[in-house]
Amino acid sequence: MSAPLTHRLLWPAAALFLCALPALSQAQAPKAAAPAAAGAPVFKNLQFLPKDITKPALRMTMKEMAKALNVDCDHCHKEPDMAADTDKKKTAREMMEMVKTINAKFPMTMKKVTCWTCHRGKQEPELGPK
Ligand code: HEC
Ligand code: HEC
Repeated sequence: MSAPLTHRLLWPAAALFLCALPALSQAQAPKAAAPAAAGAPVFKNLQFLPKDITKPALRMTMKEMAKALNVDCDHCHKEPDMAADTDKKKTAREMMEMVKTINAKFPMTMKKVTCWTCHRGKQEPELGPK
């Protein structure tokens, strides 16, 4: 059940985000506004995921990536500061872009690519058959 989640959550959420863009930039205009304002972004350093992604959706995405690589959160994060970037986190962000590109670019064939497709529970995918 977990493999297609990226698909169901990430990309529809991204599409929603695009529709919500004008509203969001307006909401962000007064920079000094109280951070807890309704609908204000919860997360500080999202460069790929929609900035208004819900906590459960973000958590599900993170868990799925962790499972695909068979690692804990701190493989990519320097806990407790989840917003800070690390080398692995930057790589993961690039991988997210790559997966999205593959799924978008080859609609006849490659629509179901996830982290698991290549990683299969390994930090680095195997380079060839054993
Ligand atoms: C394979 C690497 C990887 C793993 C494992 C991972 N994350 Fe992430 N995480 C990321 C990336 C990449 C981002 C930034 C996404 C973006 O730029 O849109 C992120 C962002 C986040 C954020 C948002 C921080 C902010 O304020 O910007 C939280 C919270 C978070 N992760 C929690 C977790 C938790 C909890 C786990 C373990 C269940 C976890 N992550 C596992 C790569 C990872
Ligand atoms: C098309 C195959 C493919 C897919 C899909 C893929 N990866 Fe990777 N990933 C690789 C390869 C190959 C490497 C090793 C790159 C290298 O060292 O040159 C790698 C390396 C990584 C690394 C660095 C490994 C390390 O510990 O140094 C991270 C983190 C990572 N991938 C995260 C992800 C995440 C998260 C996803 C899903 C959003 C993902 N990958 C999807 C092929 C893939």
